[in-house]
Amino acid sequence: MRIYAAENYEDMCLKVAERIAALVITEPCSVLGLATGSTPLGIYALLSRWYADGHVSFRQVRTVNLDEYLGLAGSHPQSYRYYMDHRLFQNVDIRPANTYLPDGTASDLTAECLRYDRLIASLGGIRLQLLGLGHNGHIGFNEPGDAFVPGTHVVALEESTIQANLRLFDSIDAVPRRAVTMGMRDIMGAKSVLLAVSGADKAEAVVKAVSGPVTPQVPASILQLHPDATLIADKAALSLLHEIECIYYTNIQ
Ligand code: F6R
Repeated sequence: MRIYAAENYEDMCLKVAERIAALVITEPCSVLGLATGSTPLGIYALLSRWYADGHVSFRQVRTVNLDEYLGLAGSHPQSYRYYMDHRLFQNVDIRPANTYLPDGTASDLTAECLRYDRLIASLGGIRLQLLGLGHNGHIGFNEPGDAFVPGTHVVALEESTIQANLRLFDSIDAVPRRAVTMGMRDIMGAKSVLLAVSGADKAEAVVKAVSGPVTPQVPASILQLHPDATLIADKAALSLLHEIECIYYTNIQ
């Protein structure tokens, strides 16, 4: 895994957004795998601005998101569909029909998971997968467990994840307990993977993901096996990595 250090959150977002924009400019039909949460907010804001300034177009891009809460319709302000629509899709020229997320309200969830896997396959797989990192090492909503799960599946969210999500809901009872997430086969099948991380609170998870054993107890550790995985993190998130032997670049500009 290549590791690039950013000064701070803003710099991390800039470095990640530049890579996404460069890909979309050079390969306009790219399939982007996208993430939600706090980490990509600045990334999507930059991409939206660069579209408005005429520097990049998403007209031919197709997107598949990692996950969606179970039971939340796309009109719910905390659903990931709503997030994506408001943070990126409505700000750029992407065709709404080319933006895909799992349907957390599907009545037959087994069929929905299968549909999502087939959809990704029918798009030819993912060109670039953007990932955030959970405090427990999750990617998408692949929570720590006994085995890596290959396909799209329904997960029971860990208590730590529910607590982390509480900041976005009115009360703990309103935080969804389950989600649908892309599995490891589609994430690892992406041609390239960008893991974006910010903040000292993620430093321990970064160490485990980057230099610990590859284990389903730390889902992000599987990225060590990816042939083109890049971690772009700010110095706070990298603060515990300093004694570890790894290729460590400080400048990518
Ligand atoms: C969101 C997702 C999650 C988040 C992770 C970090 O689509 O898949 O894995 O990336 O929970 O969340 P933030 O960025 O809010 O710290």
